[in-house]
Amino acid sequence: MDLFGVVVTAVWAMLPAYVPNNVAVLAGGGKPIDGGQTLGDRRILGDGKTRRGTVVGTAAGLGLALLLSDIAPTVSGLVGHQLPTFPVIAGLGLAFGAMLGDIAASFLKRRTGRERGASFPGLDQLDFVVGALACVWVLAPAWTEATFTTPVLLAVLVLTPLLHILTNVGAYVLGLKDEPW
Ligand code: CTP
Ligand code: MG
Repeated sequence: MDLFGVVVTAVWAMLPAYVPNNVAVLAGGGKPIDGGQTLGDRRILGDGKTRRGTVVGTAAGLGLALLLSDIAPTVSGLVGHQLPTFPVIAGLGLAFGAMLGDIAASFLKRRTGRERGASFPGLDQLDFVVGALACVWVLAPAWTEATFTTPVLLAVLVLTPLLHILTNVGAYVLGLKDEPW
């Protein structure tokens, strides 16, 4: 596969993992997952991780995966590359895994004394990628290995932090997010 094919496949296959956290920003609010509980003198996760944000974000990622599967033949024709479709379990793994990675990052941020909204360079950009890939690999190993070949995986690891920074700065400029990370 040429470089263009690798890049389109990487972005396409990760779209169901890119969307959940951004939708959670719009859908967030309501009850925090940790129920306000603390661990030591800090919150377990904090008010930034809510049940509604997590459920709506996951549903949005799964919905997108199903939509992409429908349009995969058409888009594959347009870009001249065979793009993957998403079995439900793979869509769910990518979407929920992305949310889990972000939640795990908040747990680490609180344990390292970072308040809600504080940045943690590196972790902020890759938490959801690692979560999504780990989760989809556990839930749909054959699909994951066929889709995320070594070049595609490398493209994901290089492109995702860049896309993440761009979308978060965008959300900040639009006033949807309080911080640009
Ligand atoms: N959000 C949510 N549920 C999630 C993830 C995000 O409701 N599982 C919403 C919250 O309203 C959150 C916003 O999306 O404030 C931005 O997400 P994020 O930057 O991940 O959270 P922060 O508020 O910055 O908190 P943290 O420091 O824990 O990342
Ligand atoms: Mg944040």
